[in-house]
Amino acid sequence: MANHTRAMLRNLPSLAGDAPALDRDALPEDPVTLFLDWLGVAVRQGVPEPHAMTLSTVDAEGIPDARALLLKDVDVRGWAFASEASSPKGRQLRDRPAAALSFWWQPLVRAVRVRGAVIEASREESEADLRERGEEARRRVDADDWTLWRVRPTRVEFWQGSSDRAHHRIEYLADGDGWRIRA
Ligand SMILES: Cc1cc2nc3c(=O)[nH]c(=O)nc-3n(C[C@H](O)[C@H](O)[C@H](O)COP(=O)(O)O)c2cc1C
Repeated sequence: MANHTRAMLRNLPSLAGDAPALDRDALPEDPVTLFLDWLGVAVRQGVPEPHAMTLSTVDAEGIPDARALLLKDVDVRGWAFASEASSPKGRQLRDRPAAALSFWWQPLVRAVRVRGAVIEASREESEADLRERGEEARRRVDADDWTLWRVRPTRVEFWQGSSDRAHHRIEYLADGDGWRIRA
């Protein structure tokens, strides 16, 4: 049985998408611009639900936890997501306000990782996010509990795979008020 599983996994195609061209000599100075560029490509190329991501947090015992979430916005303040403050992730973020986000856009063989401190948005912003959800979704949550957070990035990695294994990795590292790029 174990051999069968190993063989099945080994025979699955991987990194089988169609990677867009990447000009490593013309990278923007900040990761938000490059992320919005890659996200725009993903939307235009019809990547299914490109705004779905994995949010990783750490619990009180220091054990990592992760789950899928929807990206709500991205700007200079960071990558925004929303959930209930009383949920396991909400409690983990209250105790340890740091997180990692990961995106995998299979048809483009592109992945993005974001990590940094997590900042709670204002009540007004959280309420505005709740108002934008469908009525059914709104009915199921307590308005006071619904919270918008942002990951303020200290490191963002852009990874582009290639079927010939000549992968590209571009890292943006927060450096004072700007960014240091390792490409
Ligand atoms: C594609 C996808 C998107 C999701 N988006 C959200 C979301 O934006 N907010 C949310 O609270 N849960 C979302 N969920 C559910 C979470 O994955 C998770 O089950 C739930 O939030 C409870 O997580 P917790 O127990 O770690 O707090 C989503 C699930 C999937 C599969």
